[in-house]
Amino acid sequence: MSASVRTQVAIVGGGPAGLMLAQLLHLRGIETIVLESSSRDHVIERVRAGVLEQGTVDLLHEAGVGARLDREGLHHGGVHIAFGGERHAVDFERLTGGRAITIYGQNEVVRDLLDARTEAGHPPLFGVTDVALHDLDSVRPRVAFTDLDGFRREILCDVVAGCDGFHGVCRSSMPASATQVFERAHPFAWLGVLADAPPSAEWLVYSLHERGFALFSMRSPTVTRLYLQVAPDEDLDRWSDDRIWNELTTRLSTNDGWRPHAGPIIQKSITGMRSFMCEPIRHGRLFLAGDAAHIVPPTGAKGLNLAMADVQRLAEALGESFASGRQTGLDAYSDRGLRRAWRAQRFSWWMTSALHVAPDATPFDRRRQLADLDYLVSSQAAMTSLAENYVGTPFD
Ligand code: FAD
Ligand code: PHB
Repeated sequence: MSASVRTQVAIVGGGPAGLMLAQLLHLRGIETIVLESSSRDHVIERVRAGVLEQGTVDLLHEAGVGARLDREGLHHGGVHIAFGGERHAVDFERLTGGRAITIYGQNEVVRDLLDARTEAGHPPLFGVTDVALHDLDSVRPRVAFTDLDGFRREILCDVVAGCDGFHGVCRSSMPASATQVFERAHPFAWLGVLADAPPSAEWLVYSLHERGFALFSMRSPTVTRLYLQVAPDEDLDRWSDDRIWNELTTRLSTNDGWRPHAGPIIQKSITGMRSFMCEPIRHGRLFLAGDAAHIVPPTGAKGLNLAMADVQRLAEALGESFASGRQTGLDAYSDRGLRRAWRAQRFSWWMTSALHVAPDATPFDRRRQLADLDYLVSSQAAMTSLAENYVGTPFD
């Protein structure tokens, strides 16, 4: 690659948003270059989301990367909500007229997309550093970076897609005076583990226990994924495997005798919880997508799905702009994305506050929280609202 190259869309970030955007644009005959700061192995091995809405599943098929998902994805018709020792089924298919979710690890989505980009002859440039965006207000923005061999390079392009996650450089390249930020800190984090143990239930179990939230999920017929609410500054070294299993068993076991199967823990990590919105998500020729634009707490399982909805909308708008010069889709991109993201933000906030124990909760708050869940599982209307939000609305 010479010091300066030209492409149509420079994509900063090779996570799910950046890779999916590159693939969708490739299918429309639009050239891209994806810059990724991490290594290929790191991107593939990062264990994160697992719940795919139907819109995400459809998009993976549209992108031509749905074959392994069809073989290995787990169809889930609902979830369980557990509290007070009881497990309550929320049957999405019955409540929403047949809609459901698919369990398939985010790292598998990334692997499939990377394989497709590599097969097309356009893998991301991994290991880049010092990415800097220039001339975003002009018709010819530039992205400068240092490549893996230490050479300073530059991409001249028509559009920059900021898909570089929450800690990336794209959002902070927008002038502070042109953006407004909305943020909420949560007084807890999630300790997540992957265990070599067959899932002991067909559906996910979201549990509120007096010791805190716990979640039972899975990745395959032999691998269970579990989470525990912990303090935001929790030290992972204080959590031996035995302590993790004790706590998971305490918080998840229900009176019907159900409990997760224990097994060797193959991965563990702690992730802080954040709610964040940036408005607008476009500045000149820079368009933000995914976690670069918004962060939702993971309780509603919306982050990856929002990222996919963003890049589908962006790919369509860019397709229209390059084919006909019309800017209608690009001009509507920010408002449409923010509307969907705020709806997801509302739902994720509700799931989080309904199921976590706030450190400053009063006895009144605790009773009100239980009444909220009691209402949820005894009202068809409340369960339908949960089901409708969880399975997600069609991408728009
Ligand atoms: P990222 O995945 O953050 O990707 C951004 C990429 O940009 C990274 O590869 C990064 O290395 C790269 N990058 C950063 N800075 C630069 C730079 N300067 N230059 C070049 N590259 C850069 N969502 C769901 O929908 N369902 C779930 O079940 C769910 N569960 C979750 C569980 C946990 C524990 C966590 C933490 C998240 C969960 N999420 C879930 C959220 C989901 O993982 C994220 O929303 C998703 O990763 C967003 O994808 P992205 O591509 O926008 O950002
Ligand atoms: C997961 O399986 O990783 C998962 C499931 C549901 C969530 C968050 C994460 O809400």
